Amino acid sequence: MTLLKTVNLVKIYSDGGVPVPAVRGVDLQVDEGEFVVIMGPSGSGKSTLVHMLGGLDTRTSGEIWLGGKRVDTLSESAWAVLRRRQIGFVFQFFNLVASMTVADNVELPALLAGATPGEARERREVLLGALNLAERADAAPAQLSGGEQQRVALARALANQPTVLLADEPTGNLDSRNTRDVLRLLGQVHKDGQTIVMVTHDARVASLADRVVSLLDGEIVDDGRIARRRKGNAGEVIELR
Ligand SMILES: Nc1ncnc2c1ncn2[C@@H]1O[C@H](COP(=O)(O)OP(=O)(O)OP(=O)(O)O)[C@@H](O)[C@H]1O
Ligand SMILES: [Mg+2]
Repeated sequence: MTLLKTVNLVKIYSDGGVPVPAVRGVDLQVDEGEFVVIMGPSGSGKSTLVHMLGGLDTRTSGEIWLGGKRVDTLSESAWAVLRRRQIGFVFQFFNLVASMTVADNVELPALLAGATPGEARERREVLLGALNLAERADAAPAQLSGGEQQRVALARALANQPTVLLADEPTGNLDSRNTRDVLRLLGQVHKDGQTIVMVTHDARVASLADRVVSLLDGEIVDDGRIARRRKGNAGEVIELR
């Protein structure tokens, strides 16, 4: 079943003088439970595309559908509700709430979505544990390294078991040890049915996905299923390195 769909999606930035066409007619369909990776050179429109999928940037034209419902026409506040309930987002430049501890940052989305404090704490402990961050739970984001902040952002995005996880380079600042932890967690939640759309430059990360979509100059130039003998997992991927 198709969970996420775009129809002739276009984004032209025109805030400066010359209009910049960042996304030029993208038709993308993502099935429920699918793990889709978006690759492409710098400036090819990857961030712009996933931002639009999460309602963080408005489209110029075209349609976006989530779970059979048209969402590109939603108001700002309707998007906010949708994001809170259904979308987990890891940004390229992670933005944690500076005045809250790591633990509170991760628990917040679940609490906002109506989880009990006990449920939110339990999920937070599982996620931070999986990302090797349990000991940093009481720290403030500013006391963490870039890679640690990035992993906290991923834990926060997964706190709600969102309908779809949108991630923009979630391993961009990580060393191989931490990349492995992130990949293992992504592989695990994917196995449990999590739909993932993720931008990455990293071929190791891409090899974990079901499908790789390549963007060039704002257009899809390749969309291929990854063939593998059996379902991959992070361990296998890393061993290939
Ligand atoms: N706010 C903006 N105003 C004007 N142009 C923009 C804006 N944001 C992005 N662009 C332009 O849109 C194009 C696509 O940018 P985008 O950030 O989507 O690329 P990307 O594929 O994510 O690149 P990277 O791999 O470097 O993150 C680029 O040419 C960029 O300069
Ligand atoms: Mg980008």
